[in-house]
Amino acid sequence: MAKKYSLNFDWQYTPEFRSEFLDVAYDENHWETVAIPHTNKEVAYNYFDEKSYQFESCYKKRITLPEKKKNKRWILHFDGVMVWAKVYLNGEFIGEHKGGYTPFSFDITEKACYGEENSLVVYVDSRENPNIPPFGFVVDYLTYGGIYREVWLECVEDAYVEHCHIMTGKVLEAQKEIALDMKIKNHQEAKEATLKLGLQFQGKEIASWSRELKLTGALNQQVKVDFLLEKEVQLWDIHSPNLYTFCVELVTKDSCHQQNIVTGFREIHYTVDGFFLNGKKVKLRGLNRHQSFPYIGYAMPESGQKKDADILKYELGVNVVRSSHYPPSDHFLNRCDEIGLLVFDEIPGWQHIGEKGEWWDITKQHVREMIYKDWNHPSVFIWGVRINESQDEDALYSETNAIAREMDQTRPTGGVRCIGGSNLLEDVYTYNDFVHDGGRVILDKPKKIAKKKVPYLVTEYNGHMFPTKKFDPQSRRVEHSLRHLRVMDTMMTEPDISGAIGWCMADYNTHQEFGSGDKICYHGVLDMYRLPKYAASAYSAEGLETPVMNVASTMDNGDMDKSIRGEVVVYTNCDSVKMYINETYIKEFYPRKDLYAGVKHPPVIIDDFIGNQIADNEVFSTRDAKMIKTLLTKVDRDGENLPIPDMLKMGWLFLKYKMNVQNASDLYTKYFGGWGSAATQYRFEGYKDGQCVITKHKSQVFSPSLSLEMDGKTLLEENTYDTVRGVIRLVDEWGETCEYGQSAVTIEVDGCIQLIGPKQVSLIGGSIAFWVKTIGQAGEGKITLRSERFGSISQTVFVHKKEAEERM
Ligand code: GAL
Repeated sequence: MAKKYSLNFDWQYTPEFRSEFLDVAYDENHWETVAIPHTNKEVAYNYFDEKSYQFESCYKKRITLPEKKKNKRWILHFDGVMVWAKVYLNGEFIGEHKGGYTPFSFDITEKACYGEENSLVVYVDSRENPNIPPFGFVVDYLTYGGIYREVWLECVEDAYVEHCHIMTGKVLEAQKEIALDMKIKNHQEAKEATLKLGLQFQGKEIASWSRELKLTGALNQQVKVDFLLEKEVQLWDIHSPNLYTFCVELVTKDSCHQQNIVTGFREIHYTVDGFFLNGKKVKLRGLNRHQSFPYIGYAMPESGQKKDADILKYELGVNVVRSSHYPPSDHFLNRCDEIGLLVFDEIPGWQHIGEKGEWWDITKQHVREMIYKDWNHPSVFIWGVRINESQDEDALYSETNAIAREMDQTRPTGGVRCIGGSNLLEDVYTYNDFVHDGGRVILDKPKKIAKKKVPYLVTEYNGHMFPTKKFDPQSRRVEHSLRHLRVMDTMMTEPDISGAIGWCMADYNTHQEFGSGDKICYHGVLDMYRLPKYAASAYSAEGLETPVMNVASTMDNGDMDKSIRGEVVVYTNCDSVKMYINETYIKEFYPRKDLYAGVKHPPVIIDDFIGNQIADNEVFSTRDAKMIKTLLTKVDRDGENLPIPDMLKMGWLFLKYKMNVQNASDLYTKYFGGWGSAATQYRFEGYKDGQCVITKHKSQVFSPSLSLEMDGKTLLEENTYDTVRGVIRLVDEWGETCEYGQSAVTIEVDGCIQLIGPKQVSLIGGSIAFWVKTIGQAGEGKITLRSERFGSISQTVFVHKKEAEERM
């Protein structure tokens, strides 16, 4: 087995660069000791200078390669360094890489010393360099600096498989095809070799093959082989993401290079009729994701990356994510494979195309690096080979398409644009459709945009059209959620649209030209801590199997303009919702299929706060009680200026029952206002198949308290440090978030963990989160929250340490 050594601990770091640092004798011990993933500068949550992380820095690490392995080959891998890295070993230049989102590696065999210390130095330039994508003009996101993805040292044989693409074809037929496209490196003379391939499912080998190969003396060889598999397999799809392990061995007379590749059996087809996974049409419903986090920018290790995939799948219920606007971390993709979340993978870039020459060359290189990195992930279903939202540039994009098609014939290409009638060099017209501004037009017609019938996917909507903060007025937050719902709903009914991916999963820090001036784009359905706004429920109600019933309202008139509560939207996947006011049953409400015909789970709209109460409690006839209820409901929804026919009806009721304006007002107060009576308590029950499966309460808050929920109780330090998120909320007696809570909270940590970010925070719209990380010790870590008003609460987490034997 090729051995991979983690090179993530014990780097020395300094936020500057001088040529003397390259000197082997230079003593770097006074520098800061850091672990990778590392951000070159922690930033504040908002209101900071994004220039603060744009500088040159230096990372240095001493490594000793074992004497007894000096006849092996040693490959140094970097998963991601922002934005320009130059690597030196023992003072000698080894190579460089431009672009912060794709991996790169160098063979250091000849330059390394064995049995003694080597000095590894990485110069990192995190400035926005106009010669490297995405830079050259403006960019609506930040590109935090540093060695922010892992570093590895791999020990391989003289002849080894550098890249291996495993393609599974004809998966629906009895005889399946397995094709391998390998880049083999042979550092010696021509020789005979055997390629052995084993197929494992759930730890058991279920098939194996072997093939004799003739390796030439050339260093880089492309070898393609295919095999047939006559066995039933469990397909990979979004509901049951079955994964198989291919064990690939390259055996020569005196060596064996082995690697395991995890992938799935699945087939993709994109046609004018939509997207098909294993022959079945799937409407793509998803969100765009930026990989940034508060404080640490991009430097989030494995569990935090995986958590984002889990949030998309299990909290938001989407089936697709676009990795806007660059290839994501391998950890994120591994998790998407495991849980069945489709991924739109795309090259780095934002609107601007740089000069032909270096900039274009790097872009083409990014296409290759992205595909090498991600081609075995069954979750990746399309390659984005245009700079996001750039103008047509046929010369460049013919090439990026050709590269992708040459490297991978199993996936379509797309290229995200925001212009209609652009030259379709890709397989799918992928289009950012921002036409919906709250009015009647929800999505443009594909034929209008693409000028003909083509495979068509909406890759962005909403976003800047309606930035919404978690602490915005309720009406704005509701409208934000409805805009997401409307687009999703329209997309579902439009046969020419294969899917729609909203902008975006979570708020993100950005440049001064964008966002709300505090360096945040509030475009997420979640905030930067991945905590939900109302819009999150539009997705979760549609996509989750577990019961969802979220009332998009505090139910407080006082929070609304003119004190008009209006209609209340309840996002739910239940068959019906029953509402009780102060334990009096009011009514059962049903999903509004009449308003939202496309989605599977339209929301319930609460438009009746009275039920039969007027008929039951007052003197009016049943018919008149109904009329009064309709009139009072209109007043509640639209204010007291009723249209003339309603005024006439009211006048007639006044006459009949000898009422005056005061009597009518008393009725309104009694059934809507709740003034002077006991505090109004709402209870909602969600029913599925006749059973109450979920209950929620909205009521006056008397004694709020702090709650702390950790995403997990255990952390594991192995190949690098680990993190876990803690969510702080101000909750009412029913556990509902107090949406306007903004108290100050102090976060204290003790034991084997360290806090990421500030110790003192304020709740933002009732909640906030923080992350803690491991610090190289196993044992307990205690987190205590303190608040002047709400006292203190604590939680304990446990840090396990697995001494990675392959660690240097
Ligand atoms: C798009 C762009 C995204 C983001 C979004 C905001 O034009 O592709 O990166 O800026 O607008 O709505």
